[in-house]
Amino acid sequence: MDFEAKTGIPSNQRTACLIVGVFEKRRLPAISEAVDKASKGQLKQLLKSGDMDGKLEQTLMLYSPPQLPCKRILLVGCGPEKKFNMASYRKVVSKAVATLKGGGATEAVICLPALTPTDGNSYSVFRDTVLAAEEAVYSFDQCKSDVADSKRHLKKLTLMLADARQKKKAIRGIEHGKAIAAGVLMTKNMGNLPGNICTPSYLADQAKILKRKSRKLKIEILEEAQMEKLGMGALLSVSRGSRQPAKLIVMQYTGGKPNAKPVVLVGKGLTFDAGGISIKPSAGMEEMKYDMCGGASVLGVMSACLDLKLPINLIGLIPTSENLPDGAANKPGDIVTSMSGKTIEIINTDAEGRLILCDALTYAERFKPAAVIDVATLTGACVVSLGKFASGLLTNDDALAQEILDAGTKTGDRAWQLPLWDDYQELIDSKPADIANTGGRWAGTITAACFLSRFTSGFKWAHLDVAGSAWDMGSTKSATGRPVPLLTQLLLKRCRLDG
Ligand code: BES
Ligand code: MN
Ligand code: ZN
Repeated sequence: MDFEAKTGIPSNQRTACLIVGVFEKRRLPAISEAVDKASKGQLKQLLKSGDMDGKLEQTLMLYSPPQLPCKRILLVGCGPEKKFNMASYRKVVSKAVATLKGGGATEAVICLPALTPTDGNSYSVFRDTVLAAEEAVYSFDQCKSDVADSKRHLKKLTLMLADARQKKKAIRGIEHGKAIAAGVLMTKNMGNLPGNICTPSYLADQAKILKRKSRKLKIEILEEAQMEKLGMGALLSVSRGSRQPAKLIVMQYTGGKPNAKPVVLVGKGLTFDAGGISIKPSAGMEEMKYDMCGGASVLGVMSACLDLKLPINLIGLIPTSENLPDGAANKPGDIVTSMSGKTIEIINTDAEGRLILCDALTYAERFKPAAVIDVATLTGACVVSLGKFASGLLTNDDALAQEILDAGTKTGDRAWQLPLWDDYQELIDSKPADIANTGGRWAGTITAACFLSRFTSGFKWAHLDVAGSAWDMGSTKSATGRPVPLLTQLLLKRCRLDG
């Protein structure tokens, strides 16, 4: 979709649709008031008739409003004015754009950015307009043979600016919104692709395609033979049960000073998780194609970072494999040796994510990272405790925790911290080996993080468990692109460009 910031008088806009907000109890914000005046009180009259009172996400379409050059006016409810914050703002924009989906308007002028959410500013309002609008028109149709219907949606959105002095911030917000939205889109599409198309090799190819965006990006794909040489016995033990060769995708972006310590992102790229010999129940197993969403989000953040040309050094690591049952697959009781030298007793072959991640985390050490953040659909327990609303956050560094929580709050792509106390560590002690790959029934998300923590003692590290947030298991059954907004916000903030 195209986006443009514009100053001017909303009621003068010659457009297929003018999108205008209404607060609860039929209160018109200043910009809507002006449209009402120009239409000789049409809006107020309509509100009086009781068709709409401004409840959040309520909509009402007016056709051919007299006196005005626009073809339609879409009124959108913004809820109580006092409670109007960025979260409601995003909902309202999404709802407005979704309402136009499949209709006659392929272009619209939106007056909502002139509103002032309690926790927003002109930069964030413009940025989130782009994100929410792209969110609303998304549909995954790469695997459909006939997509004529879903193609009909908004092609251009003009964002009205109340104050010309804010134009610079607005344009920057739009630019950033576009870059983040493109990263989210890439992540969603990869997540939604089925396991027979989105294989480890496919993910590696997607990384190579990113090279076109920047000369400052170096891509290296480590093959199984190279991983063997490095001693990545944990990662390779998972891919032994699959005919698809595992890959370790290594992306190095040098946007900052050559010697500045990089942020390293590590994403779980398990392109299909059947559980292995500890096989999962059949019902719902198709959703395990989403088990590479962590890896896809690292590609999405890298894409955003390249589009934004961020002055930062960023490394993306994606260990990618399938987890299938096979004669050569891991068996419960097997003991494997990780790249770190630590031995791992495999209690449950379905706890494979931590096996591929631990070797990637050890590999991360060589980059002398400023911080390492891994993203993984790691535990069903995280879905039970946090649902789809928050990603689980566990870390060995309090300042990094705060940084991640703040970035989540800013973007509405929120995380919630769980404890990583030493008390939990004993749950993954193993009799015959150094570590067990599962910790029993208690605190599954925490023991999984405890496992990873044993490979991260050398650097500041945080783990995001996105098992509940990376795709919507409920209504939409679609990847969400999270936590691309959170992580991109974190990088923007580190570059002091988030405003
Ligand atoms: N990919 C799954 C985690 C998962 C399950 C994500 C359901 C989203 C929805 C992971 O590989 C896994 O199977 N974890 C096991 C670990 C257990 C065996 C300790 C789990 O959570 O059941
Ligand atoms: Mn599993
Ligand atoms: Zn898994």
